[in-house]
Amino acid sequence: MTTLRSRQAAGDTDWWRSAVVYQIYPRSFADDNGDGVGDINGIRSRLPHLARLGVDAIWINPWYPSPMKDAGYDVSDYRAIEPVFGTMAEAEALMAEAHALGIRVILDIVPNHTSDQHPWFQAALAAGPGSPERARYIFRDGRGPGGDLPPNDWRSEFGGPAWSRVTEADGRPGQWYLRLFAPEQPDVNWDHPDVHAEFEESLRFWFDRGVDGFRIDVAHGLVKDAGLADVAGLEFPLPDDTPEGVEHPHWDQPGVHDIFRRWRAVADAYDGPRVFCGEIWVGRDHRLTAYLRPDELHTAFNFNFLMAPWLASPLRETITSTLAAHAAVGAPATWVLGNHDVCRPVSRYARPQDRVREGFPSLQGYLGLPADLDAGRRRARAAALLSLALPGGAYVFAGEELGLPEVEDIPLEARQDPMVAGTGGANIGRDGCRVPLPWTTDGSSFGFGPDGGAAPWLPQPPDWGRWSTAAQEGDPASFLELYRRALSVRGGHPALGDGALAWVDAGPDVLAFTREPGFGCWVNLGTDPVPLPAGRVLVASGPLADGALPADTAAWLALD
Ligand code: NOJ
Repeated sequence: MTTLRSRQAAGDTDWWRSAVVYQIYPRSFADDNGDGVGDINGIRSRLPHLARLGVDAIWINPWYPSPMKDAGYDVSDYRAIEPVFGTMAEAEALMAEAHALGIRVILDIVPNHTSDQHPWFQAALAAGPGSPERARYIFRDGRGPGGDLPPNDWRSEFGGPAWSRVTEADGRPGQWYLRLFAPEQPDVNWDHPDVHAEFEESLRFWFDRGVDGFRIDVAHGLVKDAGLADVAGLEFPLPDDTPEGVEHPHWDQPGVHDIFRRWRAVADAYDGPRVFCGEIWVGRDHRLTAYLRPDELHTAFNFNFLMAPWLASPLRETITSTLAAHAAVGAPATWVLGNHDVCRPVSRYARPQDRVREGFPSLQGYLGLPADLDAGRRRARAAALLSLALPGGAYVFAGEELGLPEVEDIPLEARQDPMVAGTGGANIGRDGCRVPLPWTTDGSSFGFGPDGGAAPWLPQPPDWGRWSTAAQEGDPASFLELYRRALSVRGGHPALGDGALAWVDAGPDVLAFTREPGFGCWVNLGTDPVPLPAGRVLVASGPLADGALPADTAAWLALD
């Protein structure tokens, strides 16, 4: 805490280059009013937990008015608060209270699509084909006889075609609109000046209220090929050897960079840095860091790290190429182990890592692979120390500090993710990492809500209380105390956060590096214990074996 306070008091304009950002999924964090859904007052009540944990900032997933067809990523008003979550006064109080504790506040902006209940889309439906109202979205006539086929071959991320057909005012089937996600999430048209103005105004609205930054949803998706060319089987992310000039028609279009240059100018007009972190799934490092040039975004999630299996060689390669690409544009890297879209690290690393297929790390990809959750826990603890020792910033998804596993057995009928309906149940979706947090060992919702309140919006496992904050508090072997210790060391150590590392050759199965002054991180991904160099152990993810580092264990060292 001293460190956090002194960082902010010092007016550290580079705080974001080293920040540990804690991600709060508001539906699942803490339910103050007992309606079964987390809320702003719930977050406020838990700020002392976050201060004690030692995070620098919180990122709150969308809290705007929303019909909740995609858990808030379908926004119907970008400048207000969803009543299920609370009020604007409560949001302002939360920001003030977080700031008083030295915790910055980052919101989530969703600029690729609105809700179908947004006034713009309702006006577009009412106004008909060719109207200025429809020009703010991507409406087209269909292909084929009667326009019965979607305008092109694009596919929705949630399954099926990326187009939905509307019924026109005369009752006949009419135009189609683009929606890369759910039917209730129409994509907006970033060629339209109104769209630019609306989002820039929304940024200012929240910056004026003291928000420190934004996570940008689907940042690589905003601009679409002008002719809406077919994807025609083009794989994405594009393979490494893709010739320059070959572009995917709706991901990572070069025109997207101009949007973020304008946003950067909006942010830079404020005193004190207001920062952006892009959600950018593009694979190739140089395409990611193109978003991080000095006049664009500040940071981006490092999904290549998140997707790497728990194996020394791919992890080392990912870390090395990440650092090189970021250094080339002068941006800090980020280190991410999980979020609300992917399988929790404990359960991901529990799978045989040589059989984990490449690609989006959702639970769906792991079904059928045996899980060794004890191994998953050991690896997730070691991965936490690795990610918090690497140069740059880090993200911690709520519950990671408790070592929560993915909840894999939520009944299909209780699942809420639109991906489940979009794929007819073929994909079980992302609910398993969104189960409301346990704060206490017992009680009707394990302290997520008041005892006897409404059941949490997703069912919690009967033994959820064993992972609760209360169960772990004070237990030196717990995840919680490991995270607390690591964040406390990190906050006070001059070698950690932004900067550089030097690899040490400690064998093919060991990731070992030093950082100046006097810091070492050793991670053993092999099967046998390995010796540690001379030095004092600052924190270790598990017990050492006669001074050696056992398999799936990490240690931070003060080096002589
Ligand atoms: C990415 C978000 O993280 C995810 O939860 C959401 O479903 C899609 N974008 C669409 O907004």
